[in-house]
Amino acid sequence: MADPRLPLIANRQSPIANQIQNRTLLAIETSCDETSAAVIRNGRVLSNVVASQTRLHAEYGGVVPELAAREHLRLCQPVIRSALQEAKTSPDELDALAATRGPGLPNALMIGCRAAQAMAFALRRPFFGIHHHEAHLYSPWVTRAIDPGGAAGSGALQADFEHFQPNVSLIVSGGHTLLVHVRAELEHQALGSTLDDAAGECFDKVAKLIGLPYPGGPEMDRLAGDGNSRAYEFPRPLLRDPGDDFSFAGLKTSVRYFLQRHPGLADDPQKRCDLCASVQAAIVETLVGKTLRAAQRLKVPCVTASGGVTCNRALRRQLTDACAQCGITLRLAEPSLCTDNAAMIGLLAERKLLHASPPSSLDAEIDPGWSLATASP
Ligand code: KG4
Ligand code: ZN
Repeated sequence: MADPRLPLIANRQSPIANQIQNRTLLAIETSCDETSAAVIRNGRVLSNVVASQTRLHAEYGGVVPELAAREHLRLCQPVIRSALQEAKTSPDELDALAATRGPGLPNALMIGCRAAQAMAFALRRPFFGIHHHEAHLYSPWVTRAIDPGGAAGSGALQADFEHFQPNVSLIVSGGHTLLVHVRAELEHQALGSTLDDAAGECFDKVAKLIGLPYPGGPEMDRLAGDGNSRAYEFPRPLLRDPGDDFSFAGLKTSVRYFLQRHPGLADDPQKRCDLCASVQAAIVETLVGKTLRAAQRLKVPCVTASGGVTCNRALRRQLTDACAQCGITLRLAEPSLCTDNAAMIGLLAERKLLHASPPSSLDAEIDPGWSLATASP
């Protein structure tokens, strides 16, 4: 079989713009509980189909890996087909395939990764195995074009790497809380991560203590909107610590003790809103404080944020205010790209193509514990 890399990297010296023009990529993401496929062309998101498994896992109060894998297997083909249809693209028009290779749930990763590798083999196209968190780093650089005729939020999603600036990036989701220094495209250094629970996990576990349905983050956000964030005092973990690591397990425990000392408090509608607002304030203040401190220390002109918790309204507001005060540009991922999606996987693969990064092997193994430190040079 001819080397499937040849069509794309035969001339590494050619101007990078020529290499990428009209290249079409299909990307697949199955690292956790979203089955997603996207088609990308020239930084434009032609389609981004996301089938969320939230409802399936809700009755267990968290993601059940075996169920997630079975659901990915069931949904992978229909989701890929919809993404191609929506993008009006046939498989033979694809120039490259990409999939999340790690980190994530092993059996879940395997399904999307093997599907993309099999397509790459059949179509004789290169395959890019993408680091999930590295892809999150670039999702805030995608903006939604204003569509004059369409409904709000209906315009096309288009990457805007022309305005790329060195930044400190906050990745904050149900599984991860990371601070990363992105010095240049495809050049980053992890600064810190959570020592125990992720911020989204803290939202979800506290919500469970209060009796809210899974996933609790969006519900806490909603209730906090009607609450007083100063009603109750909770710790801001590691906020004064000079390092860039986070820790949210202690905050969750302090809410548990608080509820033991105040039985029935969460049954009072107003007090429940106050409690949500107070816990949310502790999480958000910690995230914003540590992110801004890292950005100022590293003298970067820009802060970015992505991951499911970036949908949180208080976090978006407080990051906006804090960055404005410090004269730092803020780029928040579009809400549709905050949670896991294949568009960000395809956009990073396209950047790798543009920068002539070598593709991955067609039989590259998944890497469930892949460290961000080894994702790009
Ligand atoms: O990125 P994501 O889909 O991936 C993971 O599953 O890790 O993030 C999901 C997380 C959940 O913990 C969810 O509660 C949280 O993001 N989340 C929120 C909000 N929307 C989603 N947390 C706080 N406020 C929100 N509005
Ligand atoms: Zn993610």
